[in-house]
Amino acid sequence: MKVAVLAGGVGSRLWPLSRERYPKQLISLTGDKSLLQNTVDRLLPLCDNHILIVGIDAHKEDLEWQLSSNGDSRIKYNILLEPYPRNTYAACLYLTLYFEKQGVKEPILVVPADHMISNEELFYEVAKDAEKLAEKGYIVTFGIKPSFASTGFGYILKGEKIEGSNGFRISKFEEKPSLERAKMYVRDENYLWNSGMFMWKPEVFLSEVKRLDFETYEKVRGLFDDKFERDPEKIYSSLPSIPVDKAVMEKSKLGVVIPSGFEWSDLGSWDSLYDVARKNKDGNVTTGDVLALHCKNSFMYSTGKLMVGIDLEDLIVVDADDAILVCKRGSSQYVKDAFDALKEQG
Ligand code: GDD
Ligand code: MG
Repeated sequence: MKVAVLAGGVGSRLWPLSRERYPKQLISLTGDKSLLQNTVDRLLPLCDNHILIVGIDAHKEDLEWQLSSNGDSRIKYNILLEPYPRNTYAACLYLTLYFEKQGVKEPILVVPADHMISNEELFYEVAKDAEKLAEKGYIVTFGIKPSFASTGFGYILKGEKIEGSNGFRISKFEEKPSLERAKMYVRDENYLWNSGMFMWKPEVFLSEVKRLDFETYEKVRGLFDDKFERDPEKIYSSLPSIPVDKAVMEKSKLGVVIPSGFEWSDLGSWDSLYDVARKNKDGNVTTGDVLALHCKNSFMYSTGKLMVGIDLEDLIVVDADDAILVCKRGSSQYVKDAFDALKEQG
């Protein structure tokens, strides 16, 4: 299989630490290494020493530096740069065409750069199962048993079992449902979260896109067309900014899900970071120069200044250079709204 990492998001739910200029996948949130470096390390046993990173032009130098300093010189990284972020549909189409142009026929594993997976052996087993299903012409997803009514994930309704495999047909895919619907889905054991990792053969994915959205297919193909003068910025500015989950997974009949037992977490929000972090006896997580007195179940993150919390409960406090976030635990999905509002104000 070939392996590609989607690494061009902004990570707006982790503001003020994650910035357009320096997004979450380039930050070290859980240890010494960045999320991107942890992601490529995890993929080593699955790749043939080549990994494709799909990022955006503004992060070029940081990507190159992080990958070259990651410590394993056997790995060759190719970096495919988008002029600017247009969400994951454009990125997936771009990377799949890139492989196709190189004559690749085998399945491609596409993974995000913002996940944590604990029991990796299990992940490798599922990836091998996914490869077999992708070989057969399916678009494969990795399903996770939902543990709460998150509105930040895609939900997959399992359909018919595929003979001789661990996979099920996707009978419905719904990207980021309302809270009301998410609550319903969590109670129904036939629903799974979409983990955001995919596997497909280039010819399968491309013929689905051609069928569903020929216009976008043709535009992105133009990036590789030697007959015309290529202008990536112009092409990109005309592309729809939507996730692959909506553009393809909600519409395709070729979707398959493998229920996966590995421990998985999307480190996309302050709440999910709190959930996976090691807590002290009072349930607090502190990072940086922090003094927490009589505090409970709170997350205090300081990047420089001394932070003192007294009698806090269920709070998230993040101090970055030029901005402070104070947020109730459980509400960090709204940080994205603050990010968007601030962007609008300029
Ligand atoms: N190259 C590139 N260009 N990468 C991008 C872009 C882009 O424009 N936008 C996002 N990415 C990268 C992000 O950096 C991340 O690694 C990955 O693509 C997924 O994007 P997110 O923005 O983190 O997606 P999400 O978490 O909201 O939703 C996806 O993942 C969920 C699980 O974590 C969906 O697939 C959901 O269905 C899924 O449940
Ligand atoms: Mg994510």
